[in-house]
Amino acid sequence: MLILGFESSCDETGVALVDAAGDAVPRLLSHALHSQVAMHADYGGVVPELASRDHIRRVLPLTRQVLAEAGRELDEVDVVAYTRGPGLAGALLVGSAVACALAAALGKPALGVHHLEGHLLSPFLSADPPSFPFVALLVSGGHTQLMRVGGVGDYELLGETIDDAAGEAFDKSAKLLGLGYPGGPALSRLAEFGDARAFALPRPLLHSGDLDFSFAGLKTAVRTQALKFGSSPCDQARADLAAATQAAIVEVLVKKSLAAVERSGLDRLVVAGGVGANRLLRQQLDAACRKRAVRVHYPELALCTDNGAMIALAAAMRLQAGRAAARSDGAFDVQPRWPLAEIDQAA
Ligand code: KG4
Ligand code: ZN
Repeated sequence: MLILGFESSCDETGVALVDAAGDAVPRLLSHALHSQVAMHADYGGVVPELASRDHIRRVLPLTRQVLAEAGRELDEVDVVAYTRGPGLAGALLVGSAVACALAAALGKPALGVHHLEGHLLSPFLSADPPSFPFVALLVSGGHTQLMRVGGVGDYELLGETIDDAAGEAFDKSAKLLGLGYPGGPALSRLAEFGDARAFALPRPLLHSGDLDFSFAGLKTAVRTQALKFGSSPCDQARADLAAATQAAIVEVLVKKSLAAVERSGLDRLVVAGGVGANRLLRQQLDAACRKRAVRVHYPELALCTDNGAMIALAAAMRLQAGRAAARSDGAFDVQPRWPLAEIDQAA
């Protein structure tokens, strides 16, 4: 079963081709990605209208590239998958319209996929895929959640952020430090030159006894320190504050993830979403999990942030698990607000 997947929920246009044979873990044949980061950088964040227009420009050339790289023809595709939500409405509409139009023209079914399910399942495309059940730490620009994942579609929320997401904390702190968008990678690069002990930043909810997160207070603390720098901070102070910020975010993520693993009685942790690319987070999780004999799985670095491969994969795994039926009615839809807990409910 060949599945062509489209991702267009935010600022990356992703297209991928996945092969799912029987019950085997689906195989990624090819994928292509266009990041709009450079286009949005001048504005300090994603401009939704520009994002939609750029998805339109990129999606068909990327599709041709993916088919050519896999040596496949369009009419060999069995199912066309797309990100149905959550995300920017206009951006989602581009992927959805293209996917459903292609499916209708080919006489093949289409399947809308939940973006977070794509992130959650993305480690199955890695060289070291997990097996169910596991605890998942989902850390992206819009979400920070801990989940117990029993199987495809079996997602129990254990805890989540009550305000900003971890990625948002990286992005907003980076902005306060005068770094460009997206802030996560920029802040962690600057942090390499800093001393995290130079600033004492809060670890919100670290000892709350539950599995929830809060990052808004941290951002305020970073702002307070950054304001003290005045208009021309020295490079070392900025690097130190970047390192301290990263250390605070990572410590909370690591401690809460391990608490979730302990409480659930499982011995497997999966990390997914853009912040999962963070080097310090990976180092500290690896070290903490090794001590407790917990296996930790990550997506390939290139598949941590948004991409089409995770969408084609999630569609394949849902179909294999009998958790979804692709539709052939030619209609298309998006669901910009779509909690993962409502994944099986109709719009
Ligand atoms: O999963 P993703 O690509 O998009 C969403 O679905 O939100 O995640 C994007 C987020 C951004 O906040 C970005 O700053 C963060 O992931 N990010 C990182 C790193 N790479 C991406 N944060 C920290 N360190 C990184 N290396
Ligand atoms: Zn994402």
